[in-house]
Amino acid sequence: MNVVLGVGGGIAAYKAAELARLLMRQGLQVNTVLTHSAGEFITPLTFAALTGRKVITDLFANRSAEDILSSSVEHIQVAQENQVLVVAPATADLLAKFAHGLADDFLSTLYLAFTGPIVLAPAMNTNMWNHPATVANLSVLRARGHRIVGPDAGDLACGTVGPGRLADPEQIAAVVAAAALNKEDLSGEVVLISAGPTQEPLDPVRYITNRSSGKMGYALAEAANARGAQVILVSGPVHIPPPPGVEVVSVRTAHQMRDAIVGRMEEATIIIKSAAVADYYVSTVPASKIKKTAARVSLDLEPTPDILAELGSRKGDRLLIGFAAETSDLISESRRKMKAKKADMIVGNLVNVDGTGFESDLNEVTLVMATGETIPVARATKREIAHIIFDHALRLRLALHASQ
Ligand code: CTP
Repeated sequence: MNVVLGVGGGIAAYKAAELARLLMRQGLQVNTVLTHSAGEFITPLTFAALTGRKVITDLFANRSAEDILSSSVEHIQVAQENQVLVVAPATADLLAKFAHGLADDFLSTLYLAFTGPIVLAPAMNTNMWNHPATVANLSVLRARGHRIVGPDAGDLACGTVGPGRLADPEQIAAVVAAAALNKEDLSGEVVLISAGPTQEPLDPVRYITNRSSGKMGYALAEAANARGAQVILVSGPVHIPPPPGVEVVSVRTAHQMRDAIVGRMEEATIIIKSAAVADYYVSTVPASKIKKTAARVSLDLEPTPDILAELGSRKGDRLLIGFAAETSDLISESRRKMKAKKADMIVGNLVNVDGTGFESDLNEVTLVMATGETIPVARATKREIAHIIFDHALRLRLALHASQ
Protein backbone atom coordinates (compact mmCIF):
# COMPACT_ATOMS: atom_id res chain seq x y z
CA MET A 1 0.00 0.00 0.00
CA ASN A 2 1.33 3.46 -0.96
CA VAL A 3 1.01 6.72 0.92
CA VAL A 4 2.18 10.20 0.00
CA LEU A 5 3.94 12.08 2.77
CA GLY A 6 3.68 15.81 2.08
CA VAL A 7 6.15 17.82 4.14
CA GLY A 8 5.52 21.53 4.75
CA GLY A 9 8.15 24.13 5.56
CA GLY A 10 8.29 24.42 9.33
CA ILE A 11 10.79 23.58 12.03
CA ALA A 12 8.89 20.32 12.67
CA ALA A 13 9.82 19.14 9.14
CA TYR A 14 12.65 17.09 10.66
CA LYS A 15 10.07 14.99 12.55
CA ALA A 16 8.59 13.96 9.19
CA ALA A 17 11.68 11.77 8.71
CA GLU A 18 10.72 9.80 11.83
CA LEU A 19 7.15 9.63 10.54
CA ALA A 20 8.38 8.20 7.21
CA ARG A 21 10.26 5.50 9.13
CA LEU A 22 7.22 4.64 11.27
CA LEU A 23 4.95 4.46 8.21
CA MET A 24 7.37 2.06 6.56
CA ARG A 25 7.36 -0.05 9.73
CA GLN A 26 3.58 -0.33 9.28
CA GLY A 27 4.31 -1.92 5.89
CA LEU A 28 3.45 1.18 3.86
CA GLN A 29 5.45 2.42 0.85
CA VAL A 30 6.16 6.11 1.37
CA ASN A 31 6.40 8.62 -1.47
CA THR A 32 7.59 11.98 -0.19
CA VAL A 33 6.71 15.41 -1.55
CA LEU A 34 8.64 18.34 -0.10
CA THR A 35 7.37 21.87 -0.56
CA HIS A 36 9.95 24.43 -1.60
CA SER A 37 10.23 25.78 1.95
CA ALA A 38 10.36 22.27 3.50
CA GLY A 39 13.54 21.86 1.43
CA GLU A 40 15.05 24.71 3.47
CA PHE A 41 14.59 22.66 6.66
CA ILE A 42 15.37 19.11 5.55
CA THR A 43 16.92 17.65 2.40
CA PRO A 44 15.22 15.36 -0.13
CA LEU A 45 18.17 13.01 0.32
CA THR A 46 17.07 12.21 3.90
CA PHE A 47 13.70 10.96 2.65
CA ALA A 48 15.13 9.25 -0.44
CA ALA A 49 17.54 7.31 1.80
CA LEU A 50 14.85 6.42 4.35
CA THR A 51 12.13 5.42 1.89
CA GLY A 52 14.23 4.12 -1.00
CA ARG A 53 12.06 6.18 -3.32
CA LYS A 54 12.41 9.28 -5.46
CA VAL A 55 11.40 12.45 -3.63
CA ILE A 56 9.31 15.06 -5.42
CA THR A 57 10.45 18.55 -4.59
CA ASP A 58 8.45 21.02 -6.65
CA LEU A 59 6.15 21.36 -9.63
CA PHE A 60 8.61 22.51 -12.29
CA ALA A 61 11.77 22.99 -10.26
CA ASN A 62 15.04 21.97 -11.92
CA ARG A 63 13.40 20.34 -14.88
CA SER A 64 13.97 20.71 -18.58
CA ALA A 65 11.09 21.71 -20.85
CA GLU A 66 11.02 18.12 -22.10
CA ASP A 67 10.72 16.75 -18.57
CA ILE A 68 7.98 19.21 -17.83
CA LEU A 69 6.00 18.09 -20.86
CA SER A 70 6.38 14.41 -20.02
CA SER A 71 5.66 14.87 -16.31
CA SER A 72 3.04 17.60 -16.45
CA VAL A 73 0.49 15.11 -15.24
CA GLU A 74 2.71 13.66 -12.50
CA HIS A 75 0.50 15.02 -9.71
CA ILE A 76 -2.45 13.15 -11.24
CA GLN A 77 -0.41 9.96 -11.44
CA VAL A 78 0.80 10.32 -7.84
CA ALA A 79 -2.80 10.98 -6.75
CA GLN A 80 -3.92 7.77 -8.45
CA GLU A 81 -1.11 5.55 -7.21
CA ASN A 82 -1.37 6.37 -3.50
CA GLN A 83 -4.08 5.38 -1.04
CA VAL A 84 -3.56 8.09 1.59
CA LEU A 85 -2.18 11.64 1.57
CA VAL A 86 -0.65 12.70 4.89
CA VAL A 87 0.74 16.19 5.34
CA ALA A 88 3.09 16.68 8.29
CA PRO A 89 3.84 19.33 9.28
CA ALA A 90 0.80 21.01 7.74
CA THR A 91 1.76 24.69 8.03
CA ALA A 92 -0.73 27.56 8.31
CA ASP A 93 0.10 28.37 4.68
CA LEU A 94 -0.68 24.82 3.47
CA LEU A 95 -3.94 24.71 5.45
CA ALA A 96 -4.95 28.01 3.83
CA LYS A 97 -4.04 26.75 0.34
CA PHE A 98 -5.94 23.48 0.84
CA ALA A 99 -8.99 25.23 2.31
CA HIS A 100 -9.18 27.66 -0.61
CA GLY A 101 -8.14 25.34 -3.41
CA LEU A 102 -4.99 27.24 -4.40
CA ALA A 103 -2.70 25.07 -6.50
CA ASP A 104 0.63 26.76 -7.05
CA ASP A 105 3.07 23.97 -6.22
CA PHE A 106 3.22 20.19 -6.38
CA LEU A 107 1.72 19.48 -2.94
CA SER A 108 -1.24 21.85 -3.26
CA THR A 109 -1.88 20.61 -6.81
CA LEU A 110 -1.72 17.01 -5.63
CA TYR A 111 -4.15 17.87 -2.81
CA LEU A 112 -6.77 18.94 -5.35
CA ALA A 113 -6.25 15.84 -7.47
CA PHE A 114 -6.32 13.45 -4.50
CA THR A 115 -9.54 11.53 -3.91
CA GLY A 116 -8.51 9.18 -1.04
CA PRO A 117 -8.38 9.82 2.71
CA ILE A 118 -6.35 12.85 3.78
CA VAL A 119 -4.58 13.18 7.14
CA LEU A 120 -3.33 16.60 8.20
CA ALA A 121 -0.94 17.10 11.13
CA PRO A 122 -0.75 20.85 11.73
CA ALA A 123 2.25 22.49 13.40
CA MET A 124 2.83 26.20 13.84
CA ASN A 125 3.27 29.01 16.35
CA THR A 126 0.41 29.25 18.90
CA ASN A 127 -0.77 32.67 17.71
CA MET A 128 -0.90 31.42 14.11
CA TRP A 129 -2.85 28.35 15.26
CA ASN A 130 -5.32 30.51 17.21
CA HIS A 131 -5.70 33.10 14.44
CA PRO A 132 -9.30 33.29 13.16
CA ALA A 133 -8.04 32.67 9.60
CA THR A 134 -6.46 29.35 10.60
CA VAL A 135 -9.46 28.43 12.76
CA ALA A 136 -11.78 29.05 9.78
CA ASN A 137 -9.52 27.13 7.35
CA LEU A 138 -9.40 24.21 9.71
CA SER A 139 -13.15 24.05 10.08
CA VAL A 140 -13.44 23.94 6.26
CA LEU A 141 -10.93 21.09 6.13
CA ARG A 142 -12.64 19.19 8.97
CA ALA A 143 -15.97 19.56 7.19
CA ARG A 144 -14.39 17.91 4.13
CA GLY A 145 -13.80 14.86 6.30
CA HIS A 146 -10.02 15.15 6.55
CA ARG A 147 -8.50 13.61 9.67
CA ILE A 148 -6.75 16.26 11.71
CA VAL A 149 -4.09 14.95 14.11
CA GLY A 150 -2.84 17.40 16.74
CA PRO A 151 -1.27 19.79 17.24
CA ASP A 152 -0.01 19.04 20.75
CA ALA A 153 0.53 21.74 23.33
CA GLY A 154 3.96 22.37 24.81
CA ASP A 155 7.20 24.31 24.37
CA LEU A 156 7.48 25.55 20.79
CA ALA A 157 10.65 26.25 18.84
CA CYS A 158 9.70 29.95 18.70
CA GLY A 159 10.04 30.16 22.49
CA THR A 160 6.32 30.26 23.35
CA VAL A 161 4.30 27.63 25.19
CA GLY A 162 0.91 26.51 23.91
CA PRO A 163 -0.77 24.50 21.16
CA GLY A 164 1.15 24.23 17.90
CA ARG A 165 3.63 21.39 18.30
CA LEU A 166 3.45 18.60 15.72
CA ALA A 167 1.59 15.56 17.14
CA ASP A 168 3.68 12.58 18.14
CA PRO A 169 4.78 10.85 14.88
CA GLU A 170 3.60 7.51 16.36
CA GLN A 171 0.12 8.92 16.71
CA ILE A 172 0.14 10.32 13.16
CA ALA A 173 1.38 6.96 11.83
CA ALA A 174 -1.45 5.11 13.62
CA VAL A 175 -4.07 7.36 12.00
CA VAL A 176 -2.45 7.00 8.56
CA ALA A 177 -2.26 3.21 8.93
CA ALA A 178 -5.95 3.04 9.86
CA ALA A 179 -6.82 5.31 6.91
CA ALA A 180 -4.68 3.18 4.56
CA LEU A 181 -6.58 0.07 5.57
CA ASN A 182 -9.70 2.11 4.98
CA LYS A 183 -10.67 1.37 8.54
CA GLU A 184 -13.70 3.56 8.81
CA ASP A 185 -15.36 0.53 10.35
CA LEU A 186 -16.32 2.40 13.53
CA SER A 187 -18.01 5.30 11.78
CA GLY A 188 -21.51 5.82 13.20
CA GLU A 189 -20.46 4.14 16.48
CA VAL A 190 -20.33 5.96 19.81
CA VAL A 191 -17.57 4.40 21.89
CA LEU A 192 -17.60 5.10 25.63
CA ILE A 193 -14.26 4.29 27.27
CA SER A 194 -13.14 4.50 30.89
CA ALA A 195 -9.43 4.81 31.55
CA GLY A 196 -6.86 5.37 34.25
CA PRO A 197 -7.02 4.83 38.00
CA THR A 198 -9.45 6.31 40.48
CA GLN A 199 -8.39 8.16 43.64
CA GLU A 200 -10.31 7.54 46.85
CA PRO A 201 -9.68 10.25 49.44
CA LEU A 202 -8.80 9.32 53.03
CA ASP A 203 -8.63 12.91 54.23
CA PRO A 204 -8.00 16.27 52.49
CA VAL A 205 -4.36 15.38 51.69
CA ARG A 206 -4.28 11.61 51.18
CA TYR A 207 -5.88 9.09 48.88
CA ILE A 208 -5.82 5.43 47.81
CA THR A 209 -5.02 4.77 44.17
CA ASN A 210 -3.27 2.22 41.93
CA ARG A 211 -0.56 2.08 39.27
CA SER A 212 -2.77 2.43 36.20
CA SER A 213 -1.31 5.03 33.77
CA GLY A 214 -4.36 5.24 31.50
CA LYS A 215 -2.20 4.42 28.44
CA MET A 216 -4.28 1.43 27.31
CA GLY A 217 -7.59 3.31 27.60
CA TYR A 218 -6.16 6.35 25.84
CA ALA A 219 -4.81 4.13 23.04
CA LEU A 220 -8.29 2.63 22.66
CA ALA A 221 -9.78 6.13 22.46
CA GLU A 222 -7.24 7.16 19.83
CA ALA A 223 -7.83 4.00 17.78
CA ALA A 224 -11.62 4.36 17.91
CA ASN A 225 -11.33 7.99 16.82
CA ALA A 226 -8.97 7.05 13.97
CA ARG A 227 -11.50 4.45 12.79
CA GLY A 228 -14.27 7.01 12.59
CA ALA A 229 -16.10 6.62 15.94
CA GLN A 230 -17.39 9.38 18.17
CA VAL A 231 -15.46 8.81 21.40
CA ILE A 232 -16.34 9.72 24.99
CA LEU A 233 -13.38 9.09 27.30
CA VAL A 234 -14.15 9.06 31.02
CA SER A 235 -10.75 9.39 32.61
CA GLY A 236 -9.39 9.12 36.11
CA PRO A 237 -6.36 11.28 36.99
CA VAL A 238 -3.51 10.52 34.52
CA HIS A 239 -0.39 12.26 33.25
CA ILE A 240 -0.81 11.75 29.51
CA PRO A 241 -2.41 14.14 27.00
CA PRO A 242 -5.90 13.30 25.72
CA PRO A 243 -6.04 12.05 22.12
CA PRO A 244 -7.23 14.82 19.78
CA GLY A 245 -10.79 14.64 18.58
CA VAL A 246 -11.98 12.79 21.69
CA GLU A 247 -14.38 14.18 24.31
CA VAL A 248 -12.78 13.80 27.73
CA VAL A 249 -14.81 13.69 30.96
CA SER A 250 -12.40 13.96 33.90
CA VAL A 251 -13.29 12.22 37.15
CA ARG A 252 -11.49 11.35 40.34
CA THR A 253 -13.32 8.76 42.42
CA ALA A 254 -15.03 5.46 41.59
CA HIS A 255 -18.39 7.05 42.38
CA GLN A 256 -17.72 9.96 40.00
CA MET A 257 -16.62 7.48 37.33
CA ARG A 258 -19.80 5.47 37.83
CA ASP A 259 -22.01 8.56 37.52
CA ALA A 260 -20.16 9.83 34.41
CA ILE A 261 -20.35 6.46 32.65
CA VAL A 262 -23.89 5.58 33.56
CA GLY A 263 -24.90 9.14 32.60
CA ARG A 264 -23.51 8.65 29.06
CA MET A 265 -24.22 4.94 28.49
CA GLU A 266 -27.47 5.55 26.60
CA GLU A 267 -25.52 7.30 23.82
CA ALA A 268 -22.99 4.48 23.46
CA THR A 269 -22.97 1.53 21.07
CA ILE A 270 -19.73 0.10 22.46
CA ILE A 271 -18.55 0.47 26.09
CA ILE A 272 -15.02 -0.41 27.17
CA LYS A 273 -14.13 -0.40 30.86
CA SER A 274 -10.36 -0.29 30.85
CA ALA A 275 -10.16 1.82 34.03
CA ALA A 276 -8.57 0.34 37.13
CA VAL A 277 -11.37 1.26 39.52
CA ALA A 278 -10.59 1.22 43.25
CA ASP A 279 -12.51 -1.62 44.91
CA TYR A 280 -12.81 0.15 48.27
CA TYR A 281 -13.31 3.67 49.55
CA VAL A 282 -13.78 5.60 52.78
CA SER A 283 -17.41 6.64 52.94
CA THR A 284 -16.97 9.41 55.53
CA VAL A 285 -13.88 11.44 54.68
CA PRO A 286 -12.83 13.67 57.59
CA ALA A 287 -12.84 17.40 56.82
CA SER A 288 -9.41 17.86 58.38
CA LYS A 289 -6.12 16.01 58.05
CA ILE A 290 -5.71 12.82 60.09
CA LYS A 291 -2.97 13.62 62.62
CA LYS A 292 -0.13 11.27 63.44
CA THR A 293 -0.23 9.59 66.87
CA ALA A 294 1.74 6.75 68.39
CA ALA A 295 -1.26 4.42 68.11
CA ARG A 296 -1.93 1.99 65.24
CA VAL A 297 -4.62 3.08 62.83
CA SER A 298 -6.87 1.05 60.61
CA LEU A 299 -8.99 2.12 57.70
CA ASP A 300 -12.65 1.34 57.58
CA LEU A 301 -13.25 0.72 53.86
CA GLU A 302 -16.47 0.05 52.03
CA PRO A 303 -16.77 -1.55 48.60
CA THR A 304 -17.18 0.82 45.65
CA PRO A 305 -19.97 0.23 43.14
CA ASP A 306 -18.92 -2.32 40.50
CA ILE A 307 -19.49 -0.20 37.40
CA LEU A 308 -18.91 -2.99 34.88
CA ALA A 309 -21.43 -5.24 36.67
CA GLU A 310 -24.02 -2.43 36.66
CA LEU A 311 -23.43 -1.81 32.95
CA GLY A 312 -23.74 -5.55 32.30
CA SER A 313 -27.13 -5.67 33.98
CA ARG A 314 -28.54 -2.91 31.78
CA LYS A 315 -26.47 -2.94 28.59
CA GLY A 316 -29.23 -3.91 26.12
CA ASP A 317 -27.60 -4.67 22.76
CA ARG A 318 -24.52 -2.56 23.47
CA LEU A 319 -21.20 -4.36 23.17
CA LEU A 320 -19.61 -4.40 26.63
CA ILE A 321 -15.88 -5.00 27.07
CA GLY A 322 -14.14 -5.20 30.43
CA PHE A 323 -10.56 -5.70 31.51
CA ALA A 324 -9.14 -8.08 34.09
CA ALA A 325 -5.88 -7.19 35.79
CA GLU A 326 -4.48 -10.41 37.21
CA THR A 327 -1.29 -11.76 38.69
CA SER A 328 -2.26 -15.44 38.12
CA ASP A 329 -5.07 -17.63 36.68
CA LEU A 330 -5.57 -15.15 33.86
CA ILE A 331 -8.00 -17.09 31.72
CA SER A 332 -10.16 -18.60 34.46
CA GLU A 333 -10.39 -15.26 36.28
CA SER A 334 -11.19 -13.40 33.04
CA ARG A 335 -13.90 -15.91 32.26
CA ARG A 336 -15.31 -15.68 35.78
CA LYS A 337 -15.44 -11.86 35.60
CA MET A 338 -17.01 -11.97 32.12
CA LYS A 339 -19.85 -14.16 33.38
CA ALA A 340 -20.31 -12.41 36.73
CA LYS A 341 -20.42 -8.94 35.14
CA LYS A 342 -22.25 -10.00 31.94
CA ALA A 343 -19.55 -8.57 29.66
CA ASP A 344 -19.19 -9.70 26.04
CA MET A 345 -15.41 -9.70 26.15
CA ILE A 346 -12.73 -9.44 28.82
CA VAL A 347 -9.25 -8.25 27.94
CA GLY A 348 -7.14 -10.26 30.36
CA ASN A 349 -3.93 -8.66 31.41
CA LEU A 350 -1.16 -10.26 33.48
CA VAL A 351 0.17 -7.25 35.32
CA ASN A 352 3.26 -8.90 36.82
CA VAL A 353 5.02 -9.60 33.49
CA ASP A 354 8.26 -7.64 32.93
CA GLY A 355 8.04 -4.78 30.41
CA THR A 356 4.27 -4.85 29.94
CA GLY A 357 1.16 -3.79 31.82
CA PHE A 358 0.91 -0.75 34.10
CA GLU A 359 2.87 2.34 32.99
CA SER A 360 4.45 0.53 30.01
CA ASP A 361 3.85 1.40 26.34
CA LEU A 362 3.69 -2.33 25.64
CA ASN A 363 1.10 -4.88 26.55
CA GLU A 364 0.40 -8.57 26.12
CA VAL A 365 -3.20 -9.66 26.58
CA THR A 366 -5.62 -12.52 26.14
CA LEU A 367 -9.07 -11.82 24.77
CA VAL A 368 -11.72 -13.95 26.41
CA MET A 369 -14.95 -13.80 24.44
CA ALA A 370 -18.58 -14.60 25.22
CA THR A 371 -18.51 -16.98 22.23
CA GLY A 372 -16.10 -19.20 24.19
CA GLU A 373 -13.04 -18.21 22.16
CA THR A 374 -9.76 -17.31 23.86
CA ILE A 375 -7.39 -15.26 21.74
CA PRO A 376 -3.83 -14.61 22.89
CA VAL A 377 -2.41 -11.33 21.58
CA ALA A 378 1.39 -11.28 21.55
CA ARG A 379 3.42 -8.43 23.00
CA ALA A 380 2.84 -5.23 21.02
CA THR A 381 2.41 -1.51 21.59
CA LYS A 382 -0.80 -0.48 23.36
CA ARG A 383 -1.74 1.35 20.13
CA GLU A 384 -1.49 -1.87 18.12
CA ILE A 385 -3.32 -3.85 20.80
CA ALA A 386 -6.11 -1.24 20.78
CA HIS A 387 -6.69 -1.86 17.07
CA ILE A 388 -6.62 -5.63 17.56
CA ILE A 389 -9.24 -5.31 20.33
CA PHE A 390 -11.53 -3.37 17.97
CA ASP A 391 -10.96 -5.89 15.13
CA HIS A 392 -12.12 -8.72 17.41
CA ALA A 393 -14.88 -6.67 19.05
CA LEU A 394 -16.54 -6.02 15.69
CA ARG A 395 -16.22 -9.65 14.71
CA LEU A 396 -17.63 -10.69 18.09
CA ARG A 397 -20.65 -8.43 17.73
CA LEU A 398 -21.48 -10.00 14.36
CA ALA A 399 -21.15 -13.47 15.87
CA LEU A 400 -23.34 -12.58 18.88
CA HIS A 401 -26.05 -11.05 16.65
CA ALA A 402 -25.95 -14.06 14.34
CA SER A 403 -26.47 -16.42 17.28
CA GLN A 404 -29.50 -14.50 18.64
N1 CTP B 1 -14.53 -2.63 37.55
C1 CTP B 1 -15.57 -1.74 37.68
N2 CTP B 1 -15.89 -1.25 38.92
C2 CTP B 1 -15.24 -1.65 40.02
C3 CTP B 1 -14.16 -2.58 39.89
C4 CTP B 1 -13.84 -3.05 38.63
O1 CTP B 1 -16.20 -1.39 36.68
N3 CTP B 1 -15.55 -1.17 41.19
C5 CTP B 1 -14.25 -3.14 36.20
C6 CTP B 1 -12.87 -2.75 35.67
O2 CTP B 1 -12.92 -1.52 34.97
C7 CTP B 1 -12.55 -3.91 34.75
C8 CTP B 1 -13.26 -5.10 35.39
O3 CTP B 1 -14.24 -4.53 36.26
O4 CTP B 1 -13.12 -3.73 33.47
C9 CTP B 1 -12.37 -6.00 36.20
O5 CTP B 1 -11.59 -5.26 37.11
P1 CTP B 1 -10.56 -5.98 38.06
O6 CTP B 1 -9.94 -4.95 38.97
O7 CTP B 1 -9.66 -6.86 37.26
O8 CTP B 1 -11.52 -6.97 38.86
P2 CTP B 1 -12.36 -6.83 40.15
O9 CTP B 1 -13.79 -7.10 39.80
O10 CTP B 1 -12.08 -5.56 40.88
O11 CTP B 1 -11.87 -8.10 40.98
P3 CTP B 1 -10.45 -8.36 41.73
O12 CTP B 1 -9.90 -6.99 42.07
O13 CTP B 1 -10.84 -9.15 42.90
O14 CTP B 1 -9.61 -9.13 40.77
